[in-house]
Amino acid sequence: MTTVVCPGSFDPITLGHLDVVRRAASMFDDVVVGVAKNPGKSGLLDLETRAGLVRAALESSGEPGLARVRVAVVPGLLVDFCREIGAVGVVKGLRGGGDFDAEQPMALMNRHLSGVETIFLPGDQRYAHVASSLVKDIVRHGGPVDDLVPAGVPEVLRAALGQPAAGS
Ligand code: PNS
Repeated sequence: MTTVVCPGSFDPITLGHLDVVRRAASMFDDVVVGVAKNPGKSGLLDLETRAGLVRAALESSGEPGLARVRVAVVPGLLVDFCREIGAVGVVKGLRGGGDFDAEQPMALMNRHLSGVETIFLPGDQRYAHVASSLVKDIVRHGGPVDDLVPAGVPEVLRAALGQPAAGS
């Protein structure tokens, strides 16, 4: 069995993330979504809340390929987590050159530290503009994000940002 990790901040999960996880699950027997802290990002939701939203999105998708994907919080270094669970690789989506510039040093460092390879998937163009940071900014200003994130995410974001619930 080949295990890979789809790591990320997932603060919160978006439809773009879900698309990458779906495509990883179509190629590998065992996919684990690793919810981790990125020291370069301040973070809104706690890691357990983010992981819960990922689990809910996978379950509610109704897709058999996604139902077998596991979700875990990565407590420390991603490479240590990969070693613990026996993952041979990391799968990451790239929306464009900016993402590549950010991801390449991490991919090379992870391989330097442990030999774990990173596989980059080109992000689907439908989601090229979708970023967790933009989603949070839109919610912060009362805008709509229902077609950018899985069901249930907007409500959690609004609550975390102290925004009134939709329709109230
Ligand atoms: O969604 P992001 O913010 O692009 O994901 C980056 C993330 C969380 C995968 C990265 O910051 C990470 O791997 N954090 C865990 C700690 C770690 O291993 N740091 C060294 C990376 S070379």
